Amino acid sequence: MDLKCINCSSLFDTDSILYNCSKCNDLLEVEYDLDKISNNLGSNWRDSPLSVWKYQDFLPIPDGVERVTLREGGTRLHNSKKLSSFFGIDNLHIKNEGDNPTASFKDRGMTVAVTKAKQLGAKIITCASTGNTSASLAAYGARGGLKRIVLIPSGKVAYGKLSQAMICGAHVLQIDGNFDKCLDVVMELSSKYEDIYLVNSINPFRIEGQKTIVFEIFEQLGHVPDWIIVPVGNAGNVSAIWKGLNEFLQLGIIDKLPRLVALATAIRIGAPASWKKALRAIYDSNGLATTVSDKEILEGQISLAKLEGLFIEPASAAPIAALKKLLRNGTISSDEEVVCIATGHGLKDPDIITKFVEKPTEVSSNIDEIQKVIKK
Ligand code: F0G
Repeated sequence: MDLKCINCSSLFDTDSILYNCSKCNDLLEVEYDLDKISNNLGSNWRDSPLSVWKYQDFLPIPDGVERVTLREGGTRLHNSKKLSSFFGIDNLHIKNEGDNPTASFKDRGMTVAVTKAKQLGAKIITCASTGNTSASLAAYGARGGLKRIVLIPSGKVAYGKLSQAMICGAHVLQIDGNFDKCLDVVMELSSKYEDIYLVNSINPFRIEGQKTIVFEIFEQLGHVPDWIIVPVGNAGNVSAIWKGLNEFLQLGIIDKLPRLVALATAIRIGAPASWKKALRAIYDSNGLATTVSDKEILEGQISLAKLEGLFIEPASAAPIAALKKLLRNGTISSDEEVVCIATGHGLKDPDIITKFVEKPTEVSSNIDEIQKVIKK
């Protein structure tokens, strides 16, 4: 197992503290000896319950290293029949990452990155964040007994997320600038001070945990869907999904790949750190990148809640909005099977909803009056 540069293919030790290639500065990824994984896997590996650590053979953590875990993964995949018929599609599934311990998909990567941080002897972990990564870092850092510093754009982070970081004891620093600026700062900080370990998704170990989402989707469906639609911020998740799929393909566990739709929207990141990996994923999967408006996202979020009872956060609803659009313009056809990744829970960011859905009706406690206003 090595860290490999995606540009110049230089190899580095997985026990080195390195976020970029020290030769050409490009992104790194973990490369495995797949034959070794295949030999270790055994025939009944699919029998145990879903979780990130179920796939430990595909993760870059040596045996015997104590894991920093809150029991992440094993999130539900909902076959959304009512939303399917509303959209006129046969088979639509929602992978609800809000089921994770801090209520977003970030926990999958964080359990691996924080475990690695401890293995490498780090005492302080840091990230830049629009909210979810900081919440996850704070929780896993607390669990692992590490100091935690998060940088956020001032005034831009929803309270649901910020409160998670605060209560878990992260030192929250907010700067007058956007996410990209925050990332520049933490990258500089961690390159200057070796004891501060960076767990943004340019950290290749984060990607390793996050790829387990597609392992689970495959196991839950029993096959590979035609399409997977995923929102993109820093492009870590879409890169992870593609990496996981290709590892399963190379091992012969799956025999085809889905097409990926990546949604550059809503997360408000100007320069996605993992854009090269994401472009490769979109291109190689014969997929596409698209955008949707805030209004379309809100409509998607409300439809999913009203028809399926799933409350997901706005960024997570972008795939629902995109699906509607791609069905309408014929890119996706109604007989194709689609999985939309719902990346985070709706309670992370409820403010927007209270502005747009019907407000509670003021009534007296008189039963007859209540009877008059009840909608049946
Ligand atoms: N969905 C949600 C709910 C997110 O919070 C993010 C990223 C993404 C999708 C995009 O994932 O970065 O891997 O492409 N949130 C980051 C954060 C930026 O700081 O919480 P990505």
